[in-house]
Amino acid sequence: MTAPLLEARDLRTHFPIRRGLFGRAAQTLRAVDGVSFAIAPGETLGLVGESGCGKSTLVKTLLLLEQPTGGEILYDGERVTMADAGRLRRRAQIVFQDPYTSLPPRMRIADIIADPLRIHGLADREEALRRARALMREVGLNPERGRDYPFQFSGGQRQRIGIARALAIEPSLLLLDEAVSALDVSVQAQVLNLLRDLQERRGLTYVFISHDLGVVRAMSDRVAVMYLGKIVEQGAAGEVYERPLHPYTRALVSAVPSLRRRGERIRLAGEPPKPTDPPSGCAFHPRCPLARPVCAEQAPLLQEWLPGRLAACHFALEPLPAAGQSAGGVAA
Ligand SMILES: Nc1ncnc2c1ncn2[C@@H]1O[C@H](COP(=O)(O)OP(=O)(O)O)[C@@H](O)[C@H]1O
Ligand code: SF4
Ligand SMILES: [Mg+2]
Repeated sequence: MTAPLLEARDLRTHFPIRRGLFGRAAQTLRAVDGVSFAIAPGETLGLVGESGCGKSTLVKTLLLLEQPTGGEILYDGERVTMADAGRLRRRAQIVFQDPYTSLPPRMRIADIIADPLRIHGLADREEALRRARALMREVGLNPERGRDYPFQFSGGQRQRIGIARALAIEPSLLLLDEAVSALDVSVQAQVLNLLRDLQERRGLTYVFISHDLGVVRAMSDRVAVMYLGKIVEQGAAGEVYERPLHPYTRALVSAVPSLRRRGERIRLAGEPPKPTDPPSGCAFHPRCPLARPVCAEQAPLLQEWLPGRLAACHFALEPLPAAGQSAGGVAA
């Protein structure tokens, strides 16, 4: 891999959970708990996992919108700290799921898109507005509508506005956090096409988050699967979907009819456990169809089982129990 644009090393973001307003931290919620990965320039890393597994906290931490509890973040090989947050946000931007709540309702569209240029002192008002109109054109919006307000646009158009705003400062990295998840399928496809075009034209690097595995497959070069704040599997997208190694990934893939392999249907029992009180050993063991006693005792490390294929499971290469058997784990 060429020198990474972005690298996370053992990144952790823990939240203290207090009892009462002034209480001491009674518990620690490990939203991101020892995440390492690298992204090459121009690459798309997909991030999947059930709701609450730490995807949003991870990307917020990458932009230092959350303060890391530990670990390192490197851009272009240089370590960044909270003091570099401003500089960092000129190189990377987040696009959130819901452009309706993330766009200021009483600002005109051209001003919304031009705002980051003014905040960062990159252009005067006139020049910023001129660039905003060019960006509107680039994302497929009519630049004549620059004086309209967010509520006058459809969901898909609002997401285009959010993308234009993120692009205003010409970042090299976009963190797309469920950026198309609120859109219906046909609009979703259009916005995904736009993202692909922009990536090609501008040489952008993406971290693409979605709970929709099909969408992630269509967009990503590599995928990382998260469970309870940790990456449990990582590899080239095609290979991970074709032959998922971690039982959690196998369950996620088998739950999607268009991705499922013949005969394999692994049902996940129950909800993910609370990140304040993760199970011992492998955190997936209470839900895992392959779990053995060792799994409750020893946490598996994320290691390479096949070339370029990482999984955090003691038994990553073992076949799962015969189809039809449901996930139970040692506790069931
Ligand atoms: N500011 C915060 N304070 C406390 N807990 C948080 C905070 N932000 C997120 N969490 C918790 O961290 C965990 C991961 O959340 P999140 O990163 O939003 O997951 P995802 O995006 O994968 O759904 C969840 O248990 C969530 O409740
Ligand atoms: S380590 Fe054990 S419990 Fe964890 S995923 Fe692998 S088989 Fe399942
Ligand atoms: Mg999220």
